[in-house]
Amino acid sequence: MLINSLTLNNYRGYKKTSIFFGDNINFFIGNNGSGKTNLLESIYFLALAKSYKSMDSSIINTEAEFAKIQAKIQNDIPINSKIIITQNGKKITFNNQDVNKLSDYIGKIKILAFLPEDMDLIKGSPKNRRFFIDMIIGQIDKNYLLELSNYRNVLKQRNELLKIYNAKKSQDLTLLDIYTEQLAKSAEIIVNYRKKFIVSIKSELNNMYHYLAANNKDISFDYQPIIEENILNQLKSKYPKDIAQKNTSTGPHRDDYVFLIDNIAAKDYASQGEQRVIILAIVLSIANIIMKTKNIKPILLLDDVFSELDYLRQNQLVKYLNDSSIQSIITTTNIKDINSSFFKKAKIFHVQNHLVKEGKINNG
Ligand SMILES: Nc1ncnc2c1ncn2[C@@H]1O[C@H](COP(=O)(O)OP(=O)(O)O)[C@@H](O)[C@H]1O
Ligand SMILES: [Mg+2]
Repeated sequence: MLINSLTLNNYRGYKKTSIFFGDNINFFIGNNGSGKTNLLESIYFLALAKSYKSMDSSIINTEAEFAKIQAKIQNDIPINSKIIITQNGKKITFNNQDVNKLSDYIGKIKILAFLPEDMDLIKGSPKNRRFFIDMIIGQIDKNYLLELSNYRNVLKQRNELLKIYNAKKSQDLTLLDIYTEQLAKSAEIIVNYRKKFIVSIKSELNNMYHYLAANNKDISFDYQPIIEENILNQLKSKYPKDIAQKNTSTGPHRDDYVFLIDNIAAKDYASQGEQRVIILAIVLSIANIIMKTKNIKPILLLDDVFSELDYLRQNQLVKYLNDSSIQSIITTTNIKDINSSFFKKAKIFHVQNHLVKEGKINNG
């Protein structure tokens, strides 16, 4: 999948801009606040019908009534996709047809993003890790997201019920049994998806990490399910606690993941740059998994990806992208450390005050 062109109207600072992308690496270079992240965010918005950082209406230019994102995407069947965002909602048009159900639309445009927010993956809370990995498994298999939403619904209903039990001190547990059985069923499916994902990414991730980090350290990425076996019984054994606390104390909504480098938790010792390499290795591994299993090339969105990376790692990343057949969109404040041999296939854009100009290479 390749994004050929993007037109923005009133998207954040962009009044009216059209961009024609190259098929390999696209560098967007500009100072802080020039509109680089906004540009990347607009592609994310087009693919997922929402922003990752703020509510829909905040992306409308402060002086305008509506915003529009439109793109032409090359695929087996070419895609022409458009989203209009107003204060009252959004309207999506996919190949000239109105989209009525968001879930039918999301996933048609396959993107994989590395965002500065993702840096929370390793040192942040378990919630950060679950969110990141849930999104990734969802990219590989949409049914996972449906199951996850089913799980969340049952969990919510169960928690409501726990409040009632807590208030009434009711002794009849029939209803709680029913919800707990539903929850256990769904939990088992989710745990299996997560386990399978960790197994599938393992060797890919190791290879990718070795390449990007240019070392031979062993990286492992382990899943730590809070309950793995006998899920129903374990949930049932927590009835008194759950009723007292008015929420469900155990289950996949409390799972965690851990990253180990040479058997030491990356959380405790990895530098910012090392964490970035791990996260990039995950994103690129997923791109490979999607290519192998789905035969689709996702579009990579890499925001401010070079900061904290040394010369060697910046160039390893660019070399990898240059040699791969994946299209990538990279934002950065400069490309002065990038080996100029990688610019042959790349396209370079300069961003200033939300204006984009296709450019030549000049020291970045
Ligand atoms: N709705 C909006 N309308 C107009 N400008 C906006 C809007 N939202 C954000 N901006 C502007 O976008 C700028 C940030 O752009 P951003 O793409 O994050 O910069 P960077 O190039 O550093 O990634 C801010 O200076 C802000 O004023
Ligand atoms: Mg930015």
